[in-house]
Amino acid sequence: MQISFHEWEDSPLTHRAAASLGSDEVQVWIATAPSDEACLTALACQLSRDERARAERFRVSEPRRQFVFGRALLRQLLGACLNVEPVTLAFGYHPRGKPFLAQSALNSDLRFNLSHSGRLVAIALAHGREVGVDLESIHRLDDWWLLAERIFSSRELCELRALPASKQREAVFNGWTRKEAYLKATSEGLTDDLPAIEVTLVPGQKPRLLRLPAGLEAARQWAIQDIPLPPDFAGAVAFEKRIGVGAEAEEDFAVLCTSTSSSTTTR
Ligand SMILES: CC(C)(COP(=O)(O)OP(=O)(O)OC[C@H]1O[C@@H](n2cnc3c(N)ncnc32)[C@H](O)[C@@H]1OP(=O)(O)O)[C@@H](O)C(=O)NCCC(=O)NCCS
Repeated sequence: MQISFHEWEDSPLTHRAAASLGSDEVQVWIATAPSDEACLTALACQLSRDERARAERFRVSEPRRQFVFGRALLRQLLGACLNVEPVTLAFGYHPRGKPFLAQSALNSDLRFNLSHSGRLVAIALAHGREVGVDLESIHRLDDWWLLAERIFSSRELCELRALPASKQREAVFNGWTRKEAYLKATSEGLTDDLPAIEVTLVPGQKPRLLRLPAGLEAARQWAIQDIPLPPDFAGAVAFEKRIGVGAEAEEDFAVLCTSTSSSTTTR
């Protein structure tokens, strides 16, 4: 099983990489939204009518830019995977708002999720397994202790307090993005019971879902990876592991980082 991280650029090479998404692969695409309004207007043409109407309802330009760029990129990636024109794709929505591919006629088990923060967008893609992705700017909050007390269990808070002050902010954002990536994979989104979802958060520790309200066994069915990002951002992707015959152990996951100039693999 492989998880691969890619920087997006609009080129045949990147379209081919998305089109080659394997059945035992999770791809995460990271892109930076353009600042140029003309470029954004051109991207908006790739959106559906309801998406363009939603874009027009944003009163503030930053969330509008995030939405338009995120949806245009999503359509390009899904279009490449399915070999269809991006503009022809239609989305349905789970009750808590998670978008999915609506066309059963495409006969595809392709799953995806999207997150944006500042000018960055991340999109996760996989066949036949749920995925969730979350990005956050680590300068978004000054009083992150308040957030920590709301989202962490007493065990997680103990671990956080035991860390040197210089590591605590990173640990909070590790925990936050890992929990939210899991909640986005399940489509549940934000819940009041975040402390009942326990994750590793100490910097340098392997990202892992440790406990869910449904128990330890339920947590073992999910894997989490951090997303390689610029220093001001934290991000994580969560995905379902294959269970039963051919069950996947996390030790078997190959992690591949590609950029336009290089690629590295770790296990
Ligand atoms: C949507 C939500 C799941 C995450 O929102 P967010 O962190 O503000 O936004 P992100 O950029 O990460 O994700 C938004 C995208 O996720 C997708 N999405 C929307 N609802 C979703 C859901 N229930 N599950 C998974 N994905 C969802 C959409 O694609 C959306 O982007 P789009 O509308 O532009 O296509 C929602 O639960 C929420 O509002 N969370 C608040 C975050 C928070 O306070 N977290 C506390 C610490 S854990």
